[in-house]
Amino acid sequence: MRKKVFFFLLLPALQLSAQGLKDAYEGLFTVGVSVNLRNVTDSAQAALICRNYNSVTAENAMKPASTEREEGRFDWRGADRVANFCRQHGIKMRGHCLMWHNQIGRWMYEDEEGNPLPKEEFFRRMRNHIHAVVSRYKDVVYCWDVVNEAITDDRRADNPYRQTPMYRIAGEEFIANAFRFAHEADSTALLFYNDYNECDPVRSRRIYEMVLRLKADGVPIDGIGMQGHYNLRRPQPEELDRAIRLYRQLVHHIHITELDVRASSQQGGDLQFSKDGTTASDSLDERLAAQYGRIFTVLRRHSDVIDNVTFWNLSDRDSWLGAKNYPLPFDVNYQPKRAYDVILQKKDVTQ
Ligand code: G3I
Repeated sequence: MRKKVFFFLLLPALQLSAQGLKDAYEGLFTVGVSVNLRNVTDSAQAALICRNYNSVTAENAMKPASTEREEGRFDWRGADRVANFCRQHGIKMRGHCLMWHNQIGRWMYEDEEGNPLPKEEFFRRMRNHIHAVVSRYKDVVYCWDVVNEAITDDRRADNPYRQTPMYRIAGEEFIANAFRFAHEADSTALLFYNDYNECDPVRSRRIYEMVLRLKADGVPIDGIGMQGHYNLRRPQPEELDRAIRLYRQLVHHIHITELDVRASSQQGGDLQFSKDGTTASDSLDERLAAQYGRIFTVLRRHSDVIDNVTFWNLSDRDSWLGAKNYPLPFDVNYQPKRAYDVILQKKDVTQ
């Protein structure tokens, strides 16, 4: 009898520890993670993914440079490994990404002499690429980041767009057509525009105006991806809240697509950043937990329009920011930090 009582007393604690992030957020939004090939091969890391996440993004394996480095020569090995892991475990994927100025072969927009392609030829190549990738993963990918980071970093520029070779060939039509081609290939996938520093008032206004214009032209955009490369101080809750309120006027789906919180004062998805970070300490751990707590408090408030929150990388060891930025809820040994508990317990943090 005494044994039975002891077991029942223990049960809630056992249930709590068996519960991962995906369970804690059931009914609010799905919780995702971006993965590299090691993450899906190592059995302990794979188990961590399955326990905590019900959405997976390939960190690099589905990008144009990985799947079609040269025109027509597809290499599906990396993308298939991630997709098969997800198929095997019944996890749906966020597709990332179809058109981006980084990690894309020059063949997409240049001829062999390095001259920009005529617009129609560029569109033909882009359409072939998008159709091939989207069709192949239709069964497992539920949404795509169709165009990534098309807005300029220059907040003072008259032209809101990043001056990429693709933009120079076709202007805004490049963005519109990427969405049209993706929709042709899979009319059921949700299609996203995805960008960073998306809480900045100038950039968020530009993103808003672009999506507004494209939607008015009938371009099939379903959602906005807020990348979420944040730091310990920014965005403040009001800044995050303001950006979500702006975007939700336009779209029914907002995803936080690449969430991490770095220890330095920088933010955003630019590759020019410091990997030096700082030294691990208790107070850093607490500040990280507090910032994640503030962020998730705002996200939960908007869970009617936010349907996915994805962390960018599985652990500090995997982070593109380097381990010394301590940006994730799991440390270099894949152990949960205080931030993990704050997120899991859905504690409202406003200070
Ligand atoms: O594949 C080569 C390999 O052949 C080579 O030996 C090795 C040597 O450095 O480099 C490998 O390429 C690296 C690639 O990741 C794959 O591991 C690149 O150097 C490295 O720059 C690249 O970084 C990725 C970055 O995008 C590229 O722009 C990061 O892992 C990835 O996390 C990051 O993700 C982006 C999102 O897609 C879009 N938003 C911003 C975010 C952070 O930059």
